[in-house]
Amino acid sequence: MNVVNSRKNFIFSGYDTVELAKKYGTPLYVISKEVIKDKCKEIRNDFLYKYDNTKAVYAGKAFLTMAMCRIIEEEGLGLDVVSGGELYTAIKADFPMRDVIFHGNNKSTDEIKMAIENNAGRIVIDHMDEISMIEDIASNFNKKVKVLIRVTPGVNSNTHKYISTGQRDSKFGVPIDNIHEVVSKTLCSEHIELMGFHFHIGSGLYENVSHISAVKALLKIIKIIKDDLGFITKELNTGGGFGIYYTKKDCVKPISYYTDSIMETLYKYCNELDLDIPKVTIEPGRWIIGEAGITLYTIGAIKEIPGIRTYVSVDGGLPDNPRPALYEAKYEAVIANKYNEKPEMIVTIAGKCCETGDILIHDLSVPEVCKGDVLVVISTGAYNYSMASNYNKLPRPAVVLLDEDEEKIIVNRETYDDILKNENMI
Ligand code: LLP
Repeated sequence: MNVVNSRKNFIFSGYDTVELAKKYGTPLYVISKEVIKDKCKEIRNDFLYKYDNTKAVYAGKAFLTMAMCRIIEEEGLGLDVVSGGELYTAIKADFPMRDVIFHGNNKSTDEIKMAIENNAGRIVIDHMDEISMIEDIASNFNKKVKVLIRVTPGVNSNTHKYISTGQRDSKFGVPIDNIHEVVSKTLCSEHIELMGFHFHIGSGLYENVSHISAVKALLKIIKIIKDDLGFITKELNTGGGFGIYYTKKDCVKPISYYTDSIMETLYKYCNELDLDIPKVTIEPGRWIIGEAGITLYTIGAIKEIPGIRTYVSVDGGLPDNPRPALYEAKYEAVIANKYNEKPEMIVTIAGKCCETGDILIHDLSVPEVCKGDVLVVISTGAYNYSMASNYNKLPRPAVVLLDEDEEKIIVNRETYDDILKNENMI
């Protein structure tokens, strides 16, 4: 998919990235619909059609716009939202609410109200107090709300500590030791229908071992709950977290690497423990959108510190991609207008923020670069736009969606007036 044209420019999803930079300016987020569709197709063929009673929802926190909601709906996936803002985006995009799962470790009353009023398909209970919040609101609306309980399975995962969530010491979910009382209280709530359980153990996982351990841990709980409380689990949501290609060091696996092992573990242990097989949901965000996105920048200042390094600065950085600063995330990049030229130098790609830590890429091999060249950072689809800020009062970039025969701006570039629009002069 990523090739060169006769002008030797870098082509992404059939589009000349240098032309895109000229037409829309930089920094620019570019998203390929084709890649998203390919990912969803793989999920359908290798998981949904392969196993009965399964569901896939897209974790909107990775990248959510109204246009993205539309694509996800067209592809037949549900949507995981985690805030009133994400819920509102789904509502405004007319996303089918029955396919929405509402998460969050500290949902407000207003957010729960919004979810129930708009008939969100599932609310995921994260802690004890939420049960009475949901019960009160549901009874006011005279509705019965379908819920899952998020469990912290006590499983460690091999990822950055900031994106590891399955370990016992986590702000997310009900610890295994408290699950009994949370289930009992949920079952006693007149306006709540407990459908099953949820776990999400972490993000950016390249091995399936943590998912397998979590499924085993959950099935043990499901068995105890069945024996003690007579509750039959109908649904098990196994979260997301599947790793993607950022650099050559990443050993990327197909979706089936995770889902086959989840399903095999489930069948085996349900059989051994004499449990009904629940409906299984997966909830990937990054795996669907990560490789579908690139970011285009224009190179500005180039500073060589003899014997130390060469800083090549671009017109964006930390505000449009905080991941290197937050998680020491690694990215690859190319010079779009010199794509097939031989590497001549090793440089450090710096952002334009007043922040020493605003370094996008350390030690990137590039051809001879100069001011005005276009730098393309690869695999920026997930958690870049969604985590972007206006630090240093930099306007957020536009987002352009590449479709088969046309490109569309799905998010406008912010203006300076947009940045000031909520400020009041004194
Ligand atoms: N389900 C739940 C309940 C989650 O909390 C998450 C991610 C997902 C699904 C989707 O995980 P994914 O498939 O995208 O790995 N900002 C961080 C990632 C935070 C992930 C938070 N939860 C980053 O840039 O790496």
